[in-house]
Amino acid sequence: MTHTTTTLAEARARDAADPLRGFRNRFALPRDARGEPLTYLCGHSLGLLPLAARTLVNEELEEWSRFAVLGHEQARRAWIPYHENLTAGLATLTGAEASEVVAMNSLTVNLHLMLASFYRPHGKRTRILIEAGAFSSDRHAVTSQIAWHGLDPERTLIELAPEPGEDLVSEEAIEAHLTRHGEEIALVLWPGVQFRTGQAFDLARIARATHARGCIAGFDLAHSIGNMPLELHALDADFAVWCSYKYLNGGPGAIGGCFVHRRHSEAQPRGRHGGGLPGVRLAGWWGHEEATRFRMEPQFEAAAGAASWQVSNPPILAAAPLIASLDIFTQAGMSALRAKSVALTDFTEQLIRPLAPRVNVLTPAASAQRGCQLSLRLAAGAADGRRVFNALTGRGVICDWRSPDIIRVAPVPLYNTFEDASRFAQVLTEILQAAA
Ligand SMILES: Cc1ncc(COP(=O)(O)O)c(C=O)c1O
Repeated sequence: MTHTTTTLAEARARDAADPLRGFRNRFALPRDARGEPLTYLCGHSLGLLPLAARTLVNEELEEWSRFAVLGHEQARRAWIPYHENLTAGLATLTGAEASEVVAMNSLTVNLHLMLASFYRPHGKRTRILIEAGAFSSDRHAVTSQIAWHGLDPERTLIELAPEPGEDLVSEEAIEAHLTRHGEEIALVLWPGVQFRTGQAFDLARIARATHARGCIAGFDLAHSIGNMPLELHALDADFAVWCSYKYLNGGPGAIGGCFVHRRHSEAQPRGRHGGGLPGVRLAGWWGHEEATRFRMEPQFEAAAGAASWQVSNPPILAAAPLIASLDIFTQAGMSALRAKSVALTDFTEQLIRPLAPRVNVLTPAASAQRGCQLSLRLAAGAADGRRVFNALTGRGVICDWRSPDIIRVAPVPLYNTFEDASRFAQVLTEILQAAA
């Protein structure tokens, strides 16, 4: 037997033994123009359509046609409290209390709303710490917030870079920076999983170090939610934001979400790490106490919990698919998904390891330091990487390219198989052999 057939046989055996294998059938698997199935490894960018989402969206269209405005109260899932359909699932995935999470807006908007409340520069404490190479939108949000406060982003934003020649930033480096400069820092915004490298961070450790220096700890979970187990309440995050179109399979432009720790929404006095929410939020009518919202009184009466950060009424059609997806997560269970994710990602990496040093995996090898994304770099440089990426696409392997030189692939445990991983490795190997 050749190496290839051995690998394929092993992949199929592992798929047959996978307790989660049935979940793949609950998603629409994309096909090419000739109707051939694609090998989809791009759930880190856009998750697949849960088939049940069609029913849910169609139901909302039906309700709209049948009830029109009366649907706000009479639809089978009434539209006024519609976001509450998402609360339990989001709380489970983020390790939060139900009152600490809310589905609303999209990620960057939520980040701005959180920064409006949590970034309150005063005295010497004005700076924001992010990672160098942060997602562009996060950087735009923090620099514009700094400027909004009349400060100079050039002097106020700190971008912590990896050591020269390295791709990853260690938690030690974050701690060391906070130890040296913490008294100037108002807020730390850190990703759960770095979008370019796939590095997963120990958020509890970052929150501890951040709070020890009296700073606010905020997290961008775009690449973490539905990918990594999260314990936001226990680790004492101040706030977190995420989108739902990646691992959460909420669909393009799906409703995002945010977490606000209970101690802030309850406006408790600043606790042991000195400083609570200073009492400001950018308010709108949907953050008003629901029981009295429609009295339309001029004074704002905040709803309980994170829900009080809502501004507008929820986008029903952008939220309906997420109900279907969160239902699947509840049935699969995050611990089973994580166990498969670790096995599937390790398997994928083992298959491409023989391609080193031509192909290098940037993502840390340790499971605790990664989710299901693997970031690859071609030793011959960006042009070679781009050519290989294009060839993968041409052969029906859907992954993505992140400037300047990275191919990202993610075998997602909900719908990818060990056979998908084997096909990816096989196609990549053939592309490299053809070019040798
Ligand atoms: C890490 C990160 N931050 C922010 C965003 C922007 O999200 P949105 O367009 O929902 O604001 C993304 C989108 O992919 C992202 O990956």
